[in-house]
Amino acid sequence: MALISLRQLLDHAAEHGYGLPAFNVNSMEQILSVMEAARKVDAPVILQASRSARSYATDAMLRHMVQAAVELYPGIPIVLHHDHGNGVESCRSAMENGFTSVMMDGSLEEDGKTPTAYAYNVRITAKVAELAHTAGASVEGELGCLGSLETGFGEAEDGHGAEGKLTHEQLLTDPEQARDFVLATKVDALAVAIGASHGAYKFTRPPTSEVLAIHVVKAIHALLPNTHLVMHGSSTVPEELRDIINAFGGDMPPTWGVPVAEIQEGIKHGVRKVNIDTDGRMAITGQFRKVAMEKPGEFDPRAFMKPARAALEALCVQRYEEFGAAGMASRIRPIPLSEMAARYASGTLDPQGTVVTG
Ligand code: 13P
Repeated sequence: MALISLRQLLDHAAEHGYGLPAFNVNSMEQILSVMEAARKVDAPVILQASRSARSYATDAMLRHMVQAAVELYPGIPIVLHHDHGNGVESCRSAMENGFTSVMMDGSLEEDGKTPTAYAYNVRITAKVAELAHTAGASVEGELGCLGSLETGFGEAEDGHGAEGKLTHEQLLTDPEQARDFVLATKVDALAVAIGASHGAYKFTRPPTSEVLAIHVVKAIHALLPNTHLVMHGSSTVPEELRDIINAFGGDMPPTWGVPVAEIQEGIKHGVRKVNIDTDGRMAITGQFRKVAMEKPGEFDPRAFMKPARAALEALCVQRYEEFGAAGMASRIRPIPLSEMAARYASGTLDPQGTVVTG
C-alpha cells in the first residue's frame, strides 16, 4: 500500500470513532517495532519525525526506511508526518522528502522557543496549508503553547519547546479562537494545549482536571465537531517502564504522564491523533540497561536492540488496542495524494473536517 495522507486517515478515524497513536521515530528499529505491532493488530500507522529526528537519521534514510516499511507491510496504510515543523522551509523540505503530512507549529517562532502572536500563527499556518494541499499532503496546526499548568513552564523535547514562564491563557487553547484559526488556516488537524507537556516529567502527582484540561478538548469539540484534534505530550509514562530503568541503574524520580483513560475520553470528543515519544524511549532504554547490567560481557548491539524492539512493539500493540485502532488497517483503501490534491482544489474537503472515506 502506498503512503497515505494524514487527512484521509483521520477522516476514517472520525467516521469510525477511534484514535491513532502517532509514534515518533528516528531509527530502523523503531520503525520495524511500530510496523510489526500494527501488523499484529491490523492497525493503520502514523510515523512521525521531528526536526532533530530528521537531522539525526537524515531525510534520505527516513524516506528509504519508510518506503521499505511500505514494501514489507503492504496491507498497512502508513502516514509519514513531520512533527513540529518550524516554518515554511522545514515543511517544504519534508514534503520534498516524501512526508505525506506536516505539522506547522506556528505557536512558536522559528527558534522553536519563543511564543508567537496569534496573527503570525494564522499567517504562517495558512501559507503551509496552501502549499501542502496543492500536493495533496495534510497540515496539522497548533494553537496555544504546550506546557505544564502546574509549573507554567514548557518542556523542551528534541530542542523544541516554549522557553520562559507561560500564562494560563497561553497554556490553554481558547475554543472560540480555535474556530477562527481552523477556518482561517484550513488546517486538517488541530493540536490543542491542555496542560500536557513533552517529556517524562509532566505531572508531580496523578493529574486532576486542574492540570490536565480534558474539559477544554470537550469545549473545542462542541464548537468544531468535525475538526480532528491532536493531543501532544501524551505519553503515559508507565510506572512499570520507569521501574525497569531504575532497577538497572537508572535514576528516574516519581512522575506521572497522561492516563490512558483521559486519552480515551479525549477520543470520545474529537481527538484523533495522540503523540507518543517518551513512552517508546523509556521502553527501549529500560531494555538497554537490563542487558548492559545482566550481561556485562555482551558487545553485540543486536543483543540490546532485540529486547528493546520487543518492548516497544508491546507498547505499540497496547496503544493501538486502547485507542480503538486495531482492526482498522484492512478497512482503508488508499487515496492517492493527487486525488487528495484534486479534492482540496475542488473544495470537496471542508476545512472543518467533512468526513470522507476511501
Ligand atoms: P511525549 O513526550 O509525551 O511522548 O510527547 C511526544 C509529542 O508530543 C511529540 O510531538
